[in-house]
Amino acid sequence: ADAMVTRVGCIGAGYVGGPTCAVIALKCPDIRVTVCDMNPTRIGQWNSDKLPVFEPGLDEIVQKCRGVNLFFTTDVVATIQESEVLFISVNTPTKTYGHGKGRAANLKYVESVAREIAKVARGNKIVVEKSTVPVKSAQSIADILKANRNSQNKFQVLSNPEFLAEGTAIEDLLNPDRILIGGEDSPDGWKAIETLSSVYKRWIPADRIITMNTWSSELSKLVANAFLAQRISAINAVSAVCEATGADVGQVALAVGKDSRIGPRFLQASVGFGGSCFQKDILNLVYICESLNLPEVAEFWLNVVSINDYQKQRFAKRIVNCLFNTVSGKRIAIMGFAFKKNTGDTRESAAIYVSAHLLEEGARLAVYDPKVEADQVTRDLNNVTGTPDVVRDQVEVCSDPYEAARGAHALVICTEWDVFQTLDYARIFAGMPKPAYVFDGRKILDHEKLTKIGFEVETIGKRVRNVSQSHPAAITNGAGSGDGAAGLNSCE
Ligand code: UDX
Ligand code: UDX
Ligand code: ADP
Repeated sequence: ADAMVTRVGCIGAGYVGGPTCAVIALKCPDIRVTVCDMNPTRIGQWNSDKLPVFEPGLDEIVQKCRGVNLFFTTDVVATIQESEVLFISVNTPTKTYGHGKGRAANLKYVESVAREIAKVARGNKIVVEKSTVPVKSAQSIADILKANRNSQNKFQVLSNPEFLAEGTAIEDLLNPDRILIGGEDSPDGWKAIETLSSVYKRWIPADRIITMNTWSSELSKLVANAFLAQRISAINAVSAVCEATGADVGQVALAVGKDSRIGPRFLQASVGFGGSCFQKDILNLVYICESLNLPEVAEFWLNVVSINDYQKQRFAKRIVNCLFNTVSGKRIAIMGFAFKKNTGDTRESAAIYVSAHLLEEGARLAVYDPKVEADQVTRDLNNVTGTPDVVRDQVEVCSDPYEAARGAHALVICTEWDVFQTLDYARIFAGMPKPAYVFDGRKILDHEKLTKIGFEVETIGKRVRNVSQSHPAAITNGAGSGDGAAGLNSCE
């Protein structure tokens, strides 16, 4: 009872800080939750009807709590001063310069927050590291706080990594597999852990709250993401074997996933994983291993990223090969630009890579995504290609899937949006030059049905031709697809 928290603050109103605090406010009506960010546009959006983050269920929670016990502000100083528990959830991008460039996490935002807290805090604080950071960051934060604190302020630094996935953030926050809290192994450390646990215990069963030392907690977050990504790279590597042999990766994943030691989830072969976390966290882990002089371990994890790059490249190349080795001047519809469905986030999306490859080959792209804004598509493609004039001349962002498909030589499914399963493909087919191709990078469409309509279908980890051969009806209807013309082998 002596651990009662009444004020929680959060620095960084992004994908992690915003939804996390909204759920804390919802579940703890007697706690005042303040989220601050130095970016006034972001805060303006959080205070508007159009939130900067799209997550199913988030709007309702913010509407209910905002102005009651949930506040969004640019006043970082006041947030620090009034909060007993302070979450740090600022961005930690991969360094783009200097030592560890391309691998190490850039901690300048975390560091500047720590310095700010030390400078303005009055009284004792529990500082909670929520951003995914390299192992031993909590120690760095603690060192900065200690070296810069004024008077008698005492700080306890905890690691409390967030495991939410985008698109299911609210569900994950309401009902997490676990809450992980790492702290200093000392009476003050245990007390701080207890205080933070008391917040989560309002809605999460005690047995799902696990506590450990700070370094184990920090490492666990990186390893959890590395394991998840590793499963995808493993099944994607198998998908290449399937395409070469006539096995079906969906069937293989089903059989393998039935082993209770392996389990069925995260075995969906795809055009490659994206998102802000997987690649970043693995590269971070790789950097840590290299720094610790463990090159074999570093290489093991680096291969997870290499296979992902290979998968994106393989898919992009196959598109060009199938379209008679030239896409120059051809319109191609990119269906889906987000890194997965139910999010407007495009960070590290495979669609960006595939699009860039096609642009380099001279294709004209028509991009459709139900949630990604047009200027985001342009920004991403400008960044990755470095040729804004090519992007301006060759990329059209469409607000309607049929418009994107009209006149396209191929549909390229990059994101597994549900809406793609229910489009009128006969109508789309009628508006496309022949042969009309579908490259299903997410294995979500009914390939037999598409083949019947007349499409040439290519997908991940499976030869569609083989499937249609086992269904005679599909073959007789395969208008415009002469035998041997569409099989994967002919595209390679
Ligand atoms: C394995 C498969 O489990 C089984 O499904 C397949 O049919 C044959 O191969 P087995 O080789 O008998 O069976 O033993 P298993 O229990 O899988 O262990 C294999 C090795 O991995 C052992 O040396 C075991 O000590 C080791 N192991 C297993 C670990 O080091 N850590 C683990 O977490 C599990
Ligand atoms: C991930 C972790 O799941 C989450 O726990 C962590 O906190 C942050 O990183 P997120 O990046 O939001 O979450 O998305 P996730 O659902 O894990 O998907 C990542 C990428 O892998 C997406 O591009 C997705 O399409 C892809 N993926 C996922 C596959 O290709 N196959 C699968 O079986 C699962
Ligand atoms: P994540 O996915 O980890 O939540 P985001 O990039 O979505 O990351 O959000 C991080 C937020 O942190 C950004 O809105 C950024 O403006 C904010 N931020 C970074 N540094 C500071 C700082 N020193 N003070 C306040 N806010 C900050």
